[in-house]
Amino acid sequence: MMRSWWSAGRQFSTHTISQPFTVPKPAFGSKSCNVTERILRNVGKNLHNNPKSPLGIIKLRIEDYFNRRFVDSNGKSEFQMFDSMNPVVSTKMCFDDLLIPIDHPGRNMTDTFYFDEKTLLRTHTSAHETELMRAGNLCFLATGDCYRRDEIDSRHYPVFHQTEAARIFKKSEVPEDFLLPDLKQCLEGLVADIFGDVETRWNPDSFPFTDPSLELEIMYNGSWMELLGCGVLRKDVLKNGNLHDHHGWAFGIGLERVAMALFDIPDIRLFHSSDERFTSQFTEGKIVKFRSFSKFPACYKDISFWVNPSFHENNFSELVRDTAGDLVETVKLVDEFKHPETGQVSKCYRINYRSFSRVLTNDEVDEIQDRVRERIEASPEMDLR
Ligand code: PHE
Repeated sequence: MMRSWWSAGRQFSTHTISQPFTVPKPAFGSKSCNVTERILRNVGKNLHNNPKSPLGIIKLRIEDYFNRRFVDSNGKSEFQMFDSMNPVVSTKMCFDDLLIPIDHPGRNMTDTFYFDEKTLLRTHTSAHETELMRAGNLCFLATGDCYRRDEIDSRHYPVFHQTEAARIFKKSEVPEDFLLPDLKQCLEGLVADIFGDVETRWNPDSFPFTDPSLELEIMYNGSWMELLGCGVLRKDVLKNGNLHDHHGWAFGIGLERVAMALFDIPDIRLFHSSDERFTSQFTEGKIVKFRSFSKFPACYKDISFWVNPSFHENNFSELVRDTAGDLVETVKLVDEFKHPETGQVSKCYRINYRSFSRVLTNDEVDEIQDRVRERIEASPEMDLR
């Protein structure tokens, strides 16, 4: 079924604030730098700002909901929209200001792309919260591309998109116990607006920057789907945003997750495809079911190596992704054993290669696999078997 909300008339134009930005030159090869040229090619693509792409359609859908729901006495939207903030942020913005402790795994180089010790690609749009507060914004949405080093499968890609929202009040305006019910109502309304009549459930969660913290799940296609994280902002986060007499709430929602569910998109790599058979299926303002085009055959190759204690699966995944690009579909651990005498651990991974647009030849895949092998050989973490 086709769903359209545009025809109902958008009451407000979405006023977004764009800021031109520059990307620092990474010190490739230095110990504290793990961004790659391939990852940096995504910076500035701003897929979320293409109103004809599924991500852009969902982003506008969320903005539209806020513009309709929160209107001030002059009939203007209370919310300011941001969608072009620099994805290159400081550790202060991404972590410190949000009370994320120094030993939090999200800060590790295995999980995050760094330019240097203090500069990184944002891992979440929460990185802009205190900056936007300091600039005087109390109600805002901030959408952008986020980056995380992760496993490789149909739902994980090192680039993804989030929309952050915060609603902050002067303490004199609303009592503290207004916040949580307001947050829940707002989000239940958002779910109803986007997904229609679906069952929802709230689970306790934990984020260093909110208390209480919650996760919202919806029943979708017969199973519970995690949709977003949210909570009441901690006092110290507001202080870091120069807000001393305020309280409020925030949430962050992943756009790929929503778009994959609503448009029935089976593989996260498709968002990055410029294949016309994909892009031509979408129209601004409409949610349609994706008609999958014929899949070209996959070709898998196994690879086995000894690992040393510093091995991290994300480093291996990133090595494969950096070598094979979007031709890699999944990377799965298929076997693992510990040598009974030496205690050394060996792992065997199956790399599945598939192109959306053509049949891959065995020679071509062998060549990529050889390059993967060469890079493993050069890595101190792994020893080919
Ligand atoms: N930034 C969190 C994430 O990426 C989501 C979140 C946003 C949670 C705002 C609470 C408040 O998972």
